[in-house]
Amino acid sequence: MKKLWGGRFRKATDKKVDDFNSSIRFDKRMYKQDIKGSVAHASMLGKQGIIPKEDSEAIVAELKNILNDIEDGNIEFLVDAEDIHMNIEKILTDRIGDAGKRLHTGRSRNDQVALDIRMYLMDETADIEEMLVETMTTFVELAKQHIDTIMPGYTHLQKAQPVTFAHHCMAYYEMFKRDYSRLKDCRKRTNVMPLGSGALAGTTYPLDREYVADMLGFDSVTMNSLDGVSDRDFVIELAGCLSMVMMHLSRFSEELILWSSNEFSFVEMDDAYSTGSSIMPQKKNPDVAELIRGKTGRVYGNLMSLLTMMKGIPLAYNKDMQEDKEPIFDSIDTVKLCLPVFCDMIRTMKVNKNNMYDGAKGGFTNATDAADYLVKKGLPFRDAHAVIGNMVFYCIEHGKAILDLTMDEMRSFSDMIGEDIYDAVSLETCVNDRKVIGGPAKRMTEKAIKKAERFIDSIETDEN
Ligand code: ARG
Repeated sequence: MKKLWGGRFRKATDKKVDDFNSSIRFDKRMYKQDIKGSVAHASMLGKQGIIPKEDSEAIVAELKNILNDIEDGNIEFLVDAEDIHMNIEKILTDRIGDAGKRLHTGRSRNDQVALDIRMYLMDETADIEEMLVETMTTFVELAKQHIDTIMPGYTHLQKAQPVTFAHHCMAYYEMFKRDYSRLKDCRKRTNVMPLGSGALAGTTYPLDREYVADMLGFDSVTMNSLDGVSDRDFVIELAGCLSMVMMHLSRFSEELILWSSNEFSFVEMDDAYSTGSSIMPQKKNPDVAELIRGKTGRVYGNLMSLLTMMKGIPLAYNKDMQEDKEPIFDSIDTVKLCLPVFCDMIRTMKVNKNNMYDGAKGGFTNATDAADYLVKKGLPFRDAHAVIGNMVFYCIEHGKAILDLTMDEMRSFSDMIGEDIYDAVSLETCVNDRKVIGGPAKRMTEKAIKKAERFIDSIETDEN
């Protein structure tokens, strides 16, 4: 096949180089954005009188046919037409001749690919934002069912203080809310229209860049032609945002894997979200959570690939940048694969409230509250800490929990202790007295849930 750029060449490209150079196998997924961009560019060229009106109209009409043909599966892309941009331009020219050959006036593949990738990432980001709203909603729903489900909170994976499962879920709500806002923010910087940057130095044609931006729904146009074609910050930024999403998914997955173990037995994954063993008949494995945790690695890897790929690139466009696509596409695909299955997995899992409660009873999770009890009776905190430290030591020696101690045993540590200590260090009091903003008390959790619901509603009304 004669190349679109074949004029200055006397030899065909080596077959191996065609395969090596070609990006069609992965950039064909941007066909819709490529056509949309070309429609806008051609319309603008016609409006500005840069190409004849009839040609511009013929291009626009035929591009729409090509779009339908691609969607109906009637187009086969060619490896030796290199990429999606030249494949579409070639099909167009084969079909409408000279008019088609005028499409690329005042445009380079460098600003064309920059445009396409921006549009593609904005579309995908919007999808992922919706999935994150779904994820936030799932956590809020779960929290609502577990406002009174007391469980141990951990630091260093050692039992620390009692919290509720609702409070734990709302922690993840906060993480995914930040992920959502990070994606929206990243989309703002992606939402800049590069066409008109040309190969690197703009163009002499009187392009109306703002018209094209308007037509494509961009907020603004890029301000420097060199930067316009060679900026991939927005790709890396998105890869970073997606890494953070995976990190959050992975942390909860890890907790679920741990909590599914016989030792914890805090949760049980639904049969539909677990798998068995080919040899051990008793096994029920949390594969979905493990795979999400595992897939986090490739998404981090993609971020590192992109950063490394870009680090030594002199201005402006270099072919290295074609390597931006597979990693970012893979990160997008992975996150889009994980989020829905994650939501379904946690929606269907069984939460063993009793085991969580029993877990919170062990490990002296109320020791801080016992010390605080003495502080409220007038003892300085450091002294109270020491008294309860002795009490815990005694409990360990005698295989007891603080609440198991008799009044006499209690008072052997401090005569400031009275009957009211039993209530003061009950798990319910420990949780519900933590009424500070952001605390696990029932009242505060209810407030946090209301606030979250209002936030989610505001997104949904914004979108309509
Ligand atoms: N396929 C190329 C890419 O993805 C398009 C731009 C090619 N430009 C060029 N001058 N070779 O980056």
